[in-house]
Amino acid sequence: MSRIVYVNGEYVDEVDAKISIFDRGFLFADGVYEVSTVINGRLIDNDIHLNRLQRSLSEIQLVIPNSLSQIEVIQQQLIDRNQLVEGIVYLQVTRGAADRDFKFPDNPVPSLVMFTQQKNVLSNPVADKGIHVMSVDDIRWARRDIKTVGLLAPSMAKQKALDEGADDAWMVEDGFVTEGSSSNAFIVTQEGTIVTLNLGNAILAGITRSVVLSLATDKGIEVEERPFSITEAYNAAEAFSTSASSFVYPVVKIDGTWIADGKPGAVALELRRLYIEAATAED
Ligand code: PDD
Repeated sequence: MSRIVYVNGEYVDEVDAKISIFDRGFLFADGVYEVSTVINGRLIDNDIHLNRLQRSLSEIQLVIPNSLSQIEVIQQQLIDRNQLVEGIVYLQVTRGAADRDFKFPDNPVPSLVMFTQQKNVLSNPVADKGIHVMSVDDIRWARRDIKTVGLLAPSMAKQKALDEGADDAWMVEDGFVTEGSSSNAFIVTQEGTIVTLNLGNAILAGITRSVVLSLATDKGIEVEERPFSITEAYNAAEAFSTSASSFVYPVVKIDGTWIADGKPGAVALELRRLYIEAATAED
């Protein structure tokens, strides 16, 4: 079934959606995006996603005419028009069309595009089995805290991992794990402490990351935000990743090394359960 998508003020059939070839998102990856999850037709943690959108926009000095509440109305319209029960809403803002030039246009007319994707986010066999990850050099730029549409490096990382028979890539810089190709990366030490890289320019401040860390703290689980090496990850009691579209995925193998007994860890499974409980309870 063809979807209804949103393009610059209009709801159109996806085959009729048009963006200029001069759009700076297309020519320069000059744009930012957000992915919000939908469960039972409702957006999850969307206000935090939209606040991050606002931050990404201000980091690239892009002002848009739409307020965050207007954006949420459009997101909800798309969910309703596509009768989306479970999945995601993708939204992208770019600096719009302008004759090709590295400098920013003087009076940009930003493009705002949104679409939905159906996805089984609640029950997912991957979450029950756990995933295999492969470490890949982190070749991305130095402002990974901005959720930019320039995603070739993580896309290459993911493809490399898939080509080698793994499910995803964990990116490594100077021996330390930064994050997954489109997720944040965590380990649980033998003492039961959750470790994940501290926020900064090196990683995206994941919304699921922040929610999961506060759920863990509420449960009395120790959390340390610090760098961890890929070797520390091989020897961890557990490993897992988080993102809006996957929630919590246990990681059971890294670079061919099974993590502990090679089964999804108890902490990861419990955090996944708590996350879903919180997400489906918000009313
Ligand atoms: N990606 N790190 C990176 C590099 C990401 O691309 C993402 C999300 C995350 C997790 O962030 P959050 O919990 O806010 O989704 C971390 C989305 C899902 C994507 O690009 O599809």
